[in-house]
Amino acid sequence: MTINSFMSWIGGKKSSRSIILPRFPLYYEKYIEVFGGGGWILFAKPPRNDFEVFNDANSNISNLFYCVREHSAELRERLCYVLNSREDFERIRHIVNEKAEIGDVKRAAEFYQLIRYSYASSCDSFGGKPHSMRSNFPLIEQASRRLQKVVIENKDFEKLICAQDSEVSFFYCDPPYYSTESYYSNVGFNRADHERLRNTLGSIAGKFLLSYNDCPEIRELYRGYEMYGYERLNNMVQRFDGGGMFGELLIANYDLNERKRANTQMTLFELEE
Ligand SMILES: C[S@@+](CC[C@H](N)C(=O)[O-])C[C@H]1O[C@@H](n2cnc3c(N)ncnc32)[C@H](O)[C@@H]1O
Repeated sequence: MTINSFMSWIGGKKSSRSIILPRFPLYYEKYIEVFGGGGWILFAKPPRNDFEVFNDANSNISNLFYCVREHSAELRERLCYVLNSREDFERIRHIVNEKAEIGDVKRAAEFYQLIRYSYASSCDSFGGKPHSMRSNFPLIEQASRRLQKVVIENKDFEKLICAQDSEVSFFYCDPPYYSTESYYSNVGFNRADHERLRNTLGSIAGKFLLSYNDCPEIRELYRGYEMYGYERLNNMVQRFDGGGMFGELLIANYDLNERKRANTQMTLFELEE
């Protein structure tokens, strides 16, 4: 069942789910979401029986996902008492740049408070908008159930990809976009990391699907791979240019239309029958 994430996140793929999911490969046994963020694609994907991994190098995100999975009741209990106030927001803002210990429910609640009460989920400035924290509780409960069998990791992409690679692995990668590296605190992704990612993905036995902003640098870096370009309303652009459209790119090391073709073949077969 497709569900919504319990958190919005910079660069979250909520509005691209219907473009990305039909381009998944037909067959894989292990699904690995390498740059997890709000996990919008993981939550949109039907669970099936595959082994699933959610990863983010930001320990506050991995800790929040872990606490949603393991301590959802305590997390909601703590969130009942948070204040939507600038003073409280400023008091806890420092945690964004600090390392979280996995299993720290107090920190998970504070981090969720920062996401929900900041401007455009940036965690850096107070949004000042009315919001009922309790209205998120059904989403948190739903996410907790969905995450029960998902492995949660807090690793740099290269370590994770090397550790999870196999012929039946499928990596969905949604890294910081080219020239927006600084939008993500706590991880230190830089320009050279785009090339490091390309080199890592270039040597795997499994399949990968990669989301990027459509720009000449990325087209050049991945020359020779399958590509599909589309336009979407982008929440990063919206931060600075309300309603702006944005060119996106999907890149893969397999045929991006294999699912579509399989359906077409099935329809033709059924028609012949
Ligand atoms: C574009 S966001 C992912 C958004 C996500 N797909 C969603 O739908 O919400 C990129 C994520 O990559 C994470 N990240 C940055 N550098 C990383 C690294 N070296 N290894 C793993 N994750 C990293 C960031 O913390 C951020 O959450």
